[in-house]
Amino acid sequence: MVDTINVRSEKTHTASSASQGTITPHTRPSNCLPSFVRSIMSSVVEISDEPGQPPALSALSLAQTSKDSKAKEQVITPFDVSGGVDEQGKPVAIDYDKLIDRFGSQRIDKAILARFERLTGKPPHRLLRRGMVFSHRDLNLVLDKYEKGVPFFLYTGRGPSSNSMHVGHTIPFEFTKYLQDAFDVPLVIMLTDDEKFLHSPKLSLQECRRFALENALDIIAVGFDVKKTFIFADTEFIYSDHGAAFGFNILEMAKKTTNNQIKGTFGFNDTNNIGEFAFPAIQSATSFASSFPFIFGHNTKAVNKIPCLIPCAIDQDPYFRQCRDNAPRLGLMKPALIHTVFLPSLRGSESKMSASDTDSSIFLNDTDNQIKKKVGKAFSGGQDTREEHERLGGRTAVDVPFQYLTFFLEDDERLEHIRQQYESGKMQSGEMKATAIKELQAYVAAFRERRKAVTPEIREEFMRPRQLIFKSMPLVEEQ
Ligand code: TYM
Ligand code: TRP
Repeated sequence: MVDTINVRSEKTHTASSASQGTITPHTRPSNCLPSFVRSIMSSVVEISDEPGQPPALSALSLAQTSKDSKAKEQVITPFDVSGGVDEQGKPVAIDYDKLIDRFGSQRIDKAILARFERLTGKPPHRLLRRGMVFSHRDLNLVLDKYEKGVPFFLYTGRGPSSNSMHVGHTIPFEFTKYLQDAFDVPLVIMLTDDEKFLHSPKLSLQECRRFALENALDIIAVGFDVKKTFIFADTEFIYSDHGAAFGFNILEMAKKTTNNQIKGTFGFNDTNNIGEFAFPAIQSATSFASSFPFIFGHNTKAVNKIPCLIPCAIDQDPYFRQCRDNAPRLGLMKPALIHTVFLPSLRGSESKMSASDTDSSIFLNDTDNQIKKKVGKAFSGGQDTREEHERLGGRTAVDVPFQYLTFFLEDDERLEHIRQQYESGKMQSGEMKATAIKELQAYVAAFRERRKAVTPEIREEFMRPRQLIFKSMPLVEEQ
Protein backbone atom coordinates (compact mmCIF):
# COMPACT_ATOMS: atom_id res chain seq x y z
CA MET A 1 0.00 0.00 0.00
CA VAL A 2 1.21 3.47 -0.75
CA ASP A 3 2.92 5.22 2.14
CA THR A 4 0.89 8.00 3.64
CA ILE A 5 1.28 10.38 6.51
CA ASN A 6 0.26 9.29 9.88
CA VAL A 7 -1.82 12.37 10.41
CA ARG A 8 -2.46 11.69 14.06
CA SER A 9 1.13 12.00 15.18
CA GLU A 10 4.10 14.03 14.11
CA LYS A 11 6.15 10.86 13.75
CA THR A 12 6.40 11.01 10.01
CA HIS A 13 8.99 8.26 9.78
CA THR A 14 6.39 5.65 10.62
CA ALA A 15 4.80 4.81 7.30
CA SER A 16 1.18 4.31 8.13
CA SER A 17 -1.67 2.63 6.37
CA ALA A 18 -3.72 4.49 3.79
CA SER A 19 -6.59 4.61 6.21
CA GLN A 20 -4.70 7.40 7.92
CA GLY A 21 -4.78 9.49 4.77
CA THR A 22 -2.58 12.17 3.29
CA ILE A 23 -2.47 15.90 2.96
CA THR A 24 0.66 17.04 1.25
CA PRO A 25 1.90 20.00 -0.73
CA HIS A 26 2.81 17.54 -3.47
CA THR A 27 1.89 14.03 -4.18
CA ARG A 28 2.77 12.11 -7.25
CA PRO A 29 0.81 12.10 -10.49
CA SER A 30 -1.51 9.15 -10.09
CA ASN A 31 -0.35 7.60 -13.33
CA CYS A 32 3.03 7.02 -11.69
CA LEU A 33 1.45 4.75 -9.10
CA PRO A 34 1.64 0.99 -9.62
CA SER A 35 -1.60 -0.24 -11.17
CA PHE A 36 -2.54 -2.39 -8.18
CA VAL A 37 -2.28 0.63 -5.90
CA ARG A 38 -4.42 2.63 -8.31
CA SER A 39 -7.08 -0.02 -8.38
CA ILE A 40 -7.18 -0.31 -4.59
CA MET A 41 -7.22 3.44 -4.20
CA SER A 42 -9.77 4.11 -6.88
CA SER A 43 -12.24 1.96 -4.98
CA VAL A 44 -12.12 4.37 -2.07
CA VAL A 45 -10.96 7.68 -3.48
CA GLU A 46 -11.07 9.58 -6.72
CA ILE A 47 -7.85 9.42 -8.71
CA SER A 48 -7.11 12.24 -11.08
CA ASP A 49 -5.66 11.21 -14.44
CA GLU A 50 -4.41 14.64 -15.29
CA PRO A 51 -0.63 14.79 -15.51
CA GLY A 52 0.87 16.72 -12.64
CA GLN A 53 -2.13 16.14 -10.43
CA PRO A 54 -1.79 14.07 -7.31
CA PRO A 55 -4.02 11.19 -6.37
CA ALA A 56 -6.86 12.68 -4.40
CA LEU A 57 -6.04 10.57 -1.39
CA SER A 58 -6.76 12.09 1.96
CA ALA A 59 -7.34 11.38 5.55
CA LEU A 60 -10.87 12.48 5.15
CA SER A 61 -11.72 10.81 1.89
CA LEU A 62 -11.27 7.27 2.97
CA ALA A 63 -14.25 6.54 5.14
CA GLN A 64 -16.39 4.23 3.06
CA THR A 65 -19.95 5.30 2.62
CA SER A 66 -22.87 3.00 1.97
CA LYS A 67 -23.64 2.25 -1.68
CA ASP A 68 -27.10 3.83 -1.94
CA SER A 69 -26.15 7.01 -0.08
CA LYS A 70 -24.97 9.89 -2.25
CA ALA A 71 -22.78 11.11 0.60
CA LYS A 72 -19.09 11.61 -0.14
CA GLU A 73 -16.49 12.32 2.54
CA GLN A 74 -14.32 15.40 2.22
CA VAL A 75 -11.08 15.20 0.26
CA ILE A 76 -8.16 17.37 1.29
CA THR A 77 -4.87 17.64 -0.58
CA PRO A 78 -3.02 20.81 -1.58
CA PHE A 79 -4.21 20.46 -5.16
CA ASP A 80 -7.60 19.04 -4.46
CA VAL A 81 -9.57 20.33 -1.53
CA SER A 82 -13.20 19.27 -1.36
CA GLY A 83 -15.74 19.12 1.45
CA GLY A 84 -17.69 16.25 -0.15
CA VAL A 85 -21.49 16.02 -0.43
CA ASP A 86 -24.29 15.08 1.94
CA GLU A 87 -26.83 12.23 1.65
CA GLN A 88 -28.91 14.27 -0.79
CA GLY A 89 -25.91 14.97 -2.97
CA LYS A 90 -25.60 18.62 -1.92
CA PRO A 91 -22.10 20.06 -1.50
CA VAL A 92 -20.84 20.43 2.06
CA ALA A 93 -18.28 22.95 3.30
CA ILE A 94 -14.91 21.64 4.48
CA ASP A 95 -15.00 20.41 8.09
CA TYR A 96 -11.94 22.00 9.68
CA ASP A 97 -12.76 20.61 13.13
CA LYS A 98 -12.38 17.11 11.75
CA LEU A 99 -9.11 18.15 10.16
CA ILE A 100 -7.69 19.35 13.50
CA ASP A 101 -8.56 16.03 15.10
CA ARG A 102 -6.98 14.04 12.29
CA PHE A 103 -3.85 16.16 12.14
CA GLY A 104 -3.35 16.37 15.88
CA SER A 105 -2.84 20.15 15.89
CA GLN A 106 -4.41 22.49 18.44
CA ARG A 107 -7.49 24.64 18.06
CA ILE A 108 -7.27 28.45 18.21
CA ASP A 109 -9.67 29.09 21.08
CA LYS A 110 -11.07 32.12 22.90
CA ALA A 111 -8.24 32.00 25.46
CA ILE A 112 -5.65 32.43 22.69
CA LEU A 113 -7.62 35.29 21.14
CA ALA A 114 -7.69 37.03 24.54
CA ARG A 115 -3.97 36.43 24.93
CA PHE A 116 -3.26 38.00 21.54
CA GLU A 117 -5.28 41.02 22.50
CA ARG A 118 -3.51 41.37 25.85
CA LEU A 119 0.00 40.96 24.44
CA THR A 120 -0.36 43.20 21.42
CA GLY A 121 -2.79 45.77 22.80
CA LYS A 122 -4.62 45.48 19.48
CA PRO A 123 -7.96 43.90 18.65
CA PRO A 124 -7.59 40.48 16.99
CA HIS A 125 -7.40 40.54 13.20
CA ARG A 126 -10.69 39.73 11.44
CA LEU A 127 -9.23 36.42 10.25
CA LEU A 128 -8.61 35.53 13.92
CA ARG A 129 -12.00 36.76 15.19
CA ARG A 130 -13.84 34.82 12.51
CA GLY A 131 -11.99 31.54 12.90
CA MET A 132 -10.15 31.61 9.56
CA VAL A 133 -6.96 31.29 11.59
CA PHE A 134 -8.10 28.07 13.20
CA SER A 135 -5.27 25.85 14.31
CA HIS A 136 -1.71 25.93 15.64
CA ARG A 137 1.23 23.98 16.95
CA ASP A 138 3.11 25.29 20.01
CA LEU A 139 1.86 28.86 19.64
CA ASN A 140 1.56 29.10 23.43
CA LEU A 141 5.24 28.26 23.86
CA VAL A 142 6.22 31.14 21.56
CA LEU A 143 3.89 33.54 23.37
CA ASP A 144 5.19 32.35 26.79
CA LYS A 145 8.71 33.27 25.74
CA TYR A 146 7.61 36.53 24.14
CA GLU A 147 5.97 37.49 27.43
CA LYS A 148 9.31 36.93 29.16
CA GLY A 149 11.03 39.22 26.65
CA VAL A 150 12.40 36.55 24.30
CA PRO A 151 11.55 37.65 20.78
CA PHE A 152 10.64 35.34 17.91
CA PHE A 153 10.83 35.61 14.15
CA LEU A 154 8.17 34.96 11.54
CA TYR A 155 8.67 32.78 8.48
CA THR A 156 6.32 32.29 5.58
CA GLY A 157 6.59 31.66 1.86
CA ARG A 158 5.22 31.16 -1.60
CA GLY A 159 5.90 28.60 -4.32
CA PRO A 160 6.06 30.76 -7.47
CA SER A 161 4.05 28.69 -9.93
CA SER A 162 2.21 31.48 -11.75
CA ASN A 163 2.81 35.02 -12.92
CA SER A 164 0.21 36.55 -10.62
CA MET A 165 -0.89 35.36 -7.19
CA HIS A 166 -4.61 34.90 -6.43
CA VAL A 167 -6.66 36.53 -3.67
CA GLY A 168 -6.47 33.33 -1.59
CA HIS A 169 -2.70 33.66 -1.33
CA THR A 170 -3.08 37.05 0.31
CA ILE A 171 -4.81 35.39 3.30
CA PRO A 172 -1.72 33.95 5.05
CA PHE A 173 0.36 36.94 3.90
CA GLU A 174 -2.13 39.50 5.22
CA PHE A 175 -2.24 37.63 8.52
CA THR A 176 1.56 37.54 8.62
CA LYS A 177 1.65 41.31 8.15
CA TYR A 178 -0.73 41.72 11.09
CA LEU A 179 1.58 39.55 13.24
CA GLN A 180 4.64 41.51 12.15
CA ASP A 181 2.97 44.83 13.02
CA ALA A 182 1.42 43.58 16.26
CA PHE A 183 4.56 41.95 17.68
CA ASP A 184 7.20 44.08 15.95
CA VAL A 185 9.29 41.10 14.92
CA PRO A 186 11.49 40.25 11.93
CA LEU A 187 10.11 38.22 9.04
CA VAL A 188 11.69 36.05 6.38
CA ILE A 189 9.74 35.19 3.23
CA MET A 190 10.95 32.27 1.14
CA LEU A 191 10.20 31.95 -2.58
CA THR A 192 10.61 28.30 -3.47
CA ASP A 193 11.36 28.57 -7.18
CA ASP A 194 13.48 25.42 -6.85
CA GLU A 195 10.48 23.50 -5.44
CA LYS A 196 8.17 24.57 -8.27
CA PHE A 197 10.85 23.67 -10.86
CA LEU A 198 11.45 20.24 -9.35
CA HIS A 199 7.74 19.43 -9.07
CA SER A 200 6.41 20.77 -12.33
CA PRO A 201 6.61 18.69 -15.49
CA LYS A 202 6.18 21.86 -17.57
CA LEU A 203 7.93 24.82 -15.94
CA SER A 204 11.54 25.64 -16.80
CA LEU A 205 14.00 26.86 -14.19
CA GLN A 206 14.07 30.28 -15.84
CA GLU A 207 10.26 30.55 -15.72
CA CYS A 208 10.18 29.68 -12.02
CA ARG A 209 12.90 32.25 -11.31
CA ARG A 210 10.93 34.87 -13.21
CA PHE A 211 7.71 34.03 -11.35
CA ALA A 212 9.62 34.38 -8.05
CA LEU A 213 10.59 37.95 -8.93
CA GLU A 214 7.06 38.78 -10.12
CA ASN A 215 5.47 37.25 -7.02
CA ALA A 216 7.87 39.20 -4.79
CA LEU A 217 6.23 42.39 -6.10
CA ASP A 218 2.78 40.99 -5.19
CA ILE A 219 3.98 40.02 -1.72
CA ILE A 220 5.60 43.41 -1.04
CA ALA A 221 2.30 45.05 -2.06
CA VAL A 222 0.61 43.29 0.89
CA GLY A 223 2.35 45.99 2.90
CA PHE A 224 5.38 44.50 4.66
CA ASP A 225 7.85 46.78 6.38
CA VAL A 226 11.14 46.74 4.46
CA LYS A 227 13.11 47.45 7.63
CA LYS A 228 11.89 44.21 9.20
CA THR A 229 11.51 41.90 6.19
CA PHE A 230 13.93 39.79 4.17
CA ILE A 231 12.59 38.12 1.02
CA PHE A 232 14.68 35.56 -0.81
CA ALA A 233 14.35 33.27 -3.81
CA ASP A 234 15.97 29.89 -3.18
CA THR A 235 17.84 29.67 -6.49
CA GLU A 236 19.51 32.99 -5.85
CA PHE A 237 20.13 33.00 -2.09
CA ILE A 238 21.32 29.41 -1.57
CA TYR A 239 24.18 29.81 -4.04
CA SER A 240 25.27 33.25 -2.83
CA ASP A 241 27.93 34.07 -0.23
CA HIS A 242 25.28 35.14 2.27
CA GLY A 243 23.48 31.82 1.83
CA ALA A 244 26.31 29.68 3.22
CA ALA A 245 24.89 29.32 6.76
CA PHE A 246 21.50 28.42 5.26
CA GLY A 247 23.22 25.88 3.01
CA PHE A 248 24.93 24.27 6.03
CA ASN A 249 21.59 23.97 7.86
CA ILE A 250 20.05 22.41 4.74
CA LEU A 251 22.83 19.81 4.74
CA GLU A 252 22.45 19.06 8.46
CA MET A 253 18.70 18.59 7.95
CA ALA A 254 19.22 16.48 4.81
CA LYS A 255 21.54 14.15 6.73
CA LYS A 256 18.83 13.47 9.33
CA THR A 257 16.09 12.93 6.74
CA THR A 258 15.58 9.44 5.35
CA ASN A 259 13.81 8.41 2.16
CA ASN A 260 11.40 6.51 4.36
CA GLN A 261 10.39 9.65 6.20
CA ILE A 262 9.80 11.53 2.97
CA LYS A 263 7.73 8.69 1.53
CA GLY A 264 5.72 8.56 4.74
CA THR A 265 5.12 12.29 4.89
CA PHE A 266 4.52 13.12 1.24
CA GLY A 267 3.44 9.80 -0.29
CA PHE A 268 6.36 9.92 -2.77
CA ASN A 269 7.53 6.74 -4.45
CA ASP A 270 10.60 5.59 -6.38
CA THR A 271 9.53 7.47 -9.52
CA ASN A 272 9.88 10.85 -7.80
CA ASN A 273 13.08 12.64 -8.72
CA ILE A 274 15.81 12.99 -6.10
CA GLY A 275 15.38 16.77 -6.03
CA GLU A 276 11.83 16.31 -4.77
CA PHE A 277 13.16 14.03 -2.03
CA ALA A 278 15.80 16.60 -1.06
CA PHE A 279 13.64 19.72 -1.18
CA PRO A 280 11.86 19.35 2.21
CA ALA A 281 15.22 19.91 3.95
CA ILE A 282 15.35 23.32 2.24
CA GLN A 283 11.86 24.43 3.31
CA SER A 284 12.73 23.17 6.83
CA ALA A 285 16.08 24.92 7.17
CA THR A 286 14.44 28.34 6.88
CA SER A 287 12.87 27.67 10.31
CA PHE A 288 16.23 28.14 12.03
CA ALA A 289 17.47 31.62 12.87
CA SER A 290 21.09 30.52 12.40
CA SER A 291 20.39 30.31 8.64
CA PHE A 292 20.42 34.14 8.60
CA PRO A 293 23.52 35.41 10.47
CA PHE A 294 23.25 38.81 8.75
CA ILE A 295 19.88 39.28 10.49
CA PHE A 296 20.42 37.63 13.84
CA GLY A 297 24.19 37.68 14.40
CA HIS A 298 26.91 35.05 14.31
CA ASN A 299 26.61 33.48 17.74
CA THR A 300 25.00 30.34 16.37
CA LYS A 301 24.28 28.72 19.73
CA ALA A 302 22.50 31.79 21.08
CA VAL A 303 20.79 32.59 17.79
CA ASN A 304 19.26 29.13 17.68
CA LYS A 305 17.33 29.99 20.83
CA ILE A 306 15.20 32.46 18.87
CA PRO A 307 11.88 30.71 18.24
CA CYS A 308 10.27 30.63 14.81
CA LEU A 309 6.55 31.04 14.11
CA ILE A 310 5.24 30.00 10.69
CA PRO A 311 1.88 31.32 9.43
CA CYS A 312 0.59 29.29 6.46
CA ALA A 313 -2.55 27.62 5.15
CA ILE A 314 -3.00 24.06 6.43
CA ASP A 315 -1.69 22.44 3.21
CA GLN A 316 1.89 23.32 4.20
CA ASP A 317 1.71 21.46 7.51
CA PRO A 318 3.38 18.24 6.23
CA TYR A 319 6.66 20.08 5.57
CA PHE A 320 6.76 21.36 9.09
CA ARG A 321 5.63 18.12 10.76
CA GLN A 322 8.65 16.61 9.03
CA CYS A 323 10.84 19.50 10.22
CA ARG A 324 9.51 19.26 13.79
CA ASP A 325 10.32 15.54 13.89
CA ASN A 326 13.95 16.08 12.93
CA ALA A 327 14.81 19.42 14.59
CA PRO A 328 15.46 17.94 18.08
CA ARG A 329 17.84 15.42 16.51
CA LEU A 330 19.90 18.41 15.39
CA GLY A 331 19.66 20.03 18.82
CA LEU A 332 17.37 22.68 17.30
CA MET A 333 14.00 24.06 18.36
CA LYS A 334 10.83 22.92 16.61
CA PRO A 335 9.17 25.77 14.73
CA ALA A 336 5.69 26.77 15.90
CA LEU A 337 2.86 27.03 13.39
CA ILE A 338 -0.34 28.96 12.95
CA HIS A 339 -2.70 27.64 10.26
CA THR A 340 -5.31 29.40 8.15
CA VAL A 341 -8.20 27.82 6.28
CA PHE A 342 -8.44 28.05 2.47
CA LEU A 343 -10.24 30.74 0.59
CA PRO A 344 -12.88 28.72 -1.28
CA SER A 345 -12.88 28.18 -5.02
CA LEU A 346 -15.35 30.13 -7.17
CA ARG A 347 -16.78 26.71 -8.01
CA GLY A 348 -17.95 26.04 -4.48
CA SER A 349 -17.05 26.36 -0.83
CA GLU A 350 -16.16 22.69 -0.78
CA SER A 351 -12.82 23.21 -2.56
CA LYS A 352 -9.99 25.74 -2.40
CA MET A 353 -9.02 28.51 -4.78
CA SER A 354 -6.08 27.21 -6.78
CA ALA A 355 -3.79 28.97 -9.28
CA SER A 356 -3.62 25.88 -11.47
CA ASP A 357 -7.41 26.05 -12.01
CA THR A 358 -7.88 29.54 -13.45
CA ASP A 359 -11.69 29.30 -13.43
CA SER A 360 -11.60 28.72 -9.68
CA SER A 361 -9.62 31.86 -8.95
CA ILE A 362 -9.64 35.61 -8.81
CA PHE A 363 -6.13 36.76 -9.61
CA LEU A 364 -4.61 39.88 -8.15
CA ASN A 365 -4.20 41.23 -11.70
CA ASP A 366 -7.83 40.59 -12.73
CA THR A 367 -9.74 43.65 -13.96
CA ASP A 368 -12.96 44.92 -12.31
CA ASN A 369 -14.87 43.43 -15.20
CA GLN A 370 -13.24 40.01 -14.86
CA ILE A 371 -14.05 40.05 -11.13
CA LYS A 372 -17.66 40.92 -11.91
CA LYS A 373 -17.99 38.11 -14.44
CA LYS A 374 -16.28 35.52 -12.25
CA VAL A 375 -18.20 36.29 -9.04
CA GLY A 376 -21.40 36.51 -11.09
CA LYS A 377 -20.88 32.86 -12.02
CA ALA A 378 -19.74 31.74 -8.56
CA PHE A 379 -21.53 28.94 -6.74
CA SER A 380 -24.57 30.31 -4.92
CA GLY A 381 -26.31 29.01 -1.82
CA GLY A 382 -29.52 30.66 -2.97
CA GLN A 383 -32.69 28.62 -3.64
CA ASP A 384 -33.91 27.74 -7.13
CA THR A 385 -36.81 30.22 -7.35
CA ARG A 386 -37.50 33.62 -5.83
CA GLU A 387 -40.47 32.21 -3.95
CA GLU A 388 -38.49 29.30 -2.53
CA HIS A 389 -35.67 31.63 -1.56
CA GLU A 390 -38.08 33.84 0.36
CA ARG A 391 -39.57 30.82 2.10
CA LEU A 392 -36.39 28.83 2.87
CA GLY A 393 -33.67 31.50 2.89
CA GLY A 394 -30.16 31.33 1.42
CA ARG A 395 -27.51 28.87 2.65
CA THR A 396 -24.59 31.01 3.79
CA ALA A 397 -22.42 27.99 4.64
CA VAL A 398 -22.05 27.07 0.95
CA ASP A 399 -22.67 30.45 -0.70
CA VAL A 400 -19.32 31.46 -2.25
CA PRO A 401 -20.04 35.22 -2.52
CA PHE A 402 -20.99 35.24 1.18
CA GLN A 403 -17.89 33.23 2.06
CA TYR A 404 -15.74 35.83 0.28
CA LEU A 405 -17.40 38.57 2.32
CA THR A 406 -16.44 36.73 5.50
CA PHE A 407 -12.79 36.88 4.37
CA PHE A 408 -12.67 40.40 3.00
CA LEU A 409 -15.39 42.56 4.59
CA GLU A 410 -13.90 44.26 7.65
CA ASP A 411 -17.15 45.43 9.30
CA ASP A 412 -18.48 42.70 11.65
CA GLU A 413 -21.90 44.31 12.10
CA ARG A 414 -22.50 44.69 8.39
CA LEU A 415 -21.45 41.12 7.78
CA GLU A 416 -23.87 39.87 10.44
CA HIS A 417 -26.66 41.97 8.96
CA ILE A 418 -26.00 40.51 5.49
CA ARG A 419 -26.01 37.01 6.94
CA GLN A 420 -29.38 37.55 8.62
CA GLN A 421 -30.94 39.12 5.56
CA TYR A 422 -29.79 36.28 3.34
CA GLU A 423 -30.66 33.42 5.66
CA SER A 424 -34.11 34.85 6.29
CA GLY A 425 -34.72 35.06 2.55
CA LYS A 426 -34.98 38.86 2.52
CA MET A 427 -31.82 39.20 0.44
CA GLN A 428 -31.73 37.40 -2.90
CA SER A 429 -28.55 35.84 -4.33
CA GLY A 430 -28.24 38.58 -7.00
CA GLU A 431 -27.86 41.17 -4.28
CA MET A 432 -25.40 38.96 -2.40
CA LYS A 433 -23.29 38.63 -5.54
CA ALA A 434 -23.39 42.37 -6.21
CA THR A 435 -22.21 43.04 -2.64
CA ALA A 436 -19.34 40.54 -2.93
CA ILE A 437 -18.33 41.95 -6.36
CA LYS A 438 -18.10 45.43 -4.89
CA GLU A 439 -16.00 44.32 -1.92
CA LEU A 440 -13.63 42.23 -4.03
CA GLN A 441 -13.23 44.97 -6.62
CA ALA A 442 -12.32 47.35 -3.81
CA TYR A 443 -9.89 44.84 -2.26
CA VAL A 444 -8.14 44.16 -5.59
CA ALA A 445 -8.17 47.86 -6.58
CA ALA A 446 -6.44 48.80 -3.32
CA PHE A 447 -3.94 46.03 -3.96
CA ARG A 448 -3.42 47.24 -7.56
CA GLU A 449 -2.57 50.73 -6.30
CA ARG A 450 -0.03 49.43 -3.78
CA ARG A 451 1.42 47.08 -6.41
CA LYS A 452 1.95 49.98 -8.84
CA ALA A 453 4.11 51.70 -6.26
CA VAL A 454 6.46 48.70 -5.86
CA THR A 455 9.45 49.29 -8.09
CA PRO A 456 12.26 46.83 -8.92
CA GLU A 457 14.50 49.00 -6.71
CA ILE A 458 12.20 48.46 -3.74
CA ARG A 459 12.20 44.72 -4.43
CA GLU A 460 15.98 44.75 -4.57
CA GLU A 461 16.11 46.28 -1.10
CA PHE A 462 13.72 43.64 0.34
CA MET A 463 15.86 40.91 -1.22
CA ARG A 464 19.22 42.27 -0.07
CA PRO A 465 20.75 40.30 2.81
CA ARG A 466 21.09 42.87 5.60
CA GLN A 467 20.57 43.61 9.27
CA LEU A 468 16.89 44.13 10.00
CA ILE A 469 15.62 46.77 12.39
CA PHE A 470 12.92 46.02 14.97
CA LYS A 471 12.09 46.97 18.52
CA SER A 472 12.75 43.70 20.23
CA MET A 473 16.15 43.26 18.59
CA PRO A 474 17.03 39.62 19.10
CA LEU A 475 20.74 40.27 19.20
CA VAL A 476 21.96 37.67 21.57
CA GLU A 477 25.71 38.16 21.29
CA GLU A 478 26.01 38.66 25.03
CA GLN A 479 24.44 35.30 26.00
P1 TYM B 1 2.00 28.34 -2.18
O1 TYM B 1 2.59 29.21 -3.19
O2 TYM B 1 1.27 27.13 -2.65
O3 TYM B 1 1.04 29.16 -1.27
C1 TYM B 1 1.48 30.33 -0.59
C2 TYM B 1 0.68 30.44 0.69
O4 TYM B 1 -0.72 30.55 0.42
C3 TYM B 1 -1.44 29.47 1.03
N1 TYM B 1 -2.59 29.16 0.16
C4 TYM B 1 -3.85 29.56 0.42
N2 TYM B 1 -4.35 30.23 1.47
C5 TYM B 1 -5.69 30.49 1.49
N3 TYM B 1 -6.54 30.10 0.51
C6 TYM B 1 -6.10 29.40 -0.56
N4 TYM B 1 -6.97 29.05 -1.51
C7 TYM B 1 -4.68 29.11 -0.65
N5 TYM B 1 -3.88 28.46 -1.53
C8 TYM B 1 -2.61 28.50 -1.03
C9 TYM B 1 -0.39 28.38 1.23
O5 TYM B 1 -0.70 27.49 2.26
C10 TYM B 1 0.84 29.20 1.59
O6 TYM B 1 0.80 29.62 2.94
N6 TYM B 1 6.02 25.62 -0.53
C11 TYM B 1 5.24 26.87 -0.27
C12 TYM B 1 6.19 28.03 -0.07
C13 TYM B 1 6.77 28.04 1.31
C14 TYM B 1 6.05 28.32 2.50
C15 TYM B 1 6.97 28.22 3.57
C16 TYM B 1 4.73 28.64 2.77
C17 TYM B 1 8.04 27.80 1.68
N7 TYM B 1 8.17 27.90 3.05
C18 TYM B 1 6.58 28.43 4.89
C19 TYM B 1 4.34 28.86 4.08
C20 TYM B 1 5.26 28.75 5.15
C21 TYM B 1 4.25 27.15 -1.44
O7 TYM B 1 4.48 26.70 -2.55
O8 TYM B 1 3.13 27.94 -1.11
N1 TRP C 1 5.82 24.67 -0.19
C1 TRP C 1 4.96 25.78 -0.50
C2 TRP C 1 4.15 25.41 -1.78
O1 TRP C 1 4.29 24.36 -2.36
C3 TRP C 1 5.78 27.11 -0.57
C4 TRP C 1 6.38 27.53 0.80
C5 TRP C 1 7.70 27.52 1.14
C6 TRP C 1 5.66 28.04 1.90
N2 TRP C 1 7.86 27.99 2.44
C7 TRP C 1 6.64 28.32 2.92
C8 TRP C 1 4.34 28.29 2.15
C9 TRP C 1 6.27 28.83 4.16
C10 TRP C 1 3.96 28.81 3.40
C11 TRP C 1 4.93 29.06 4.40
O2 TRP C 1 3.32 26.15 -2.19
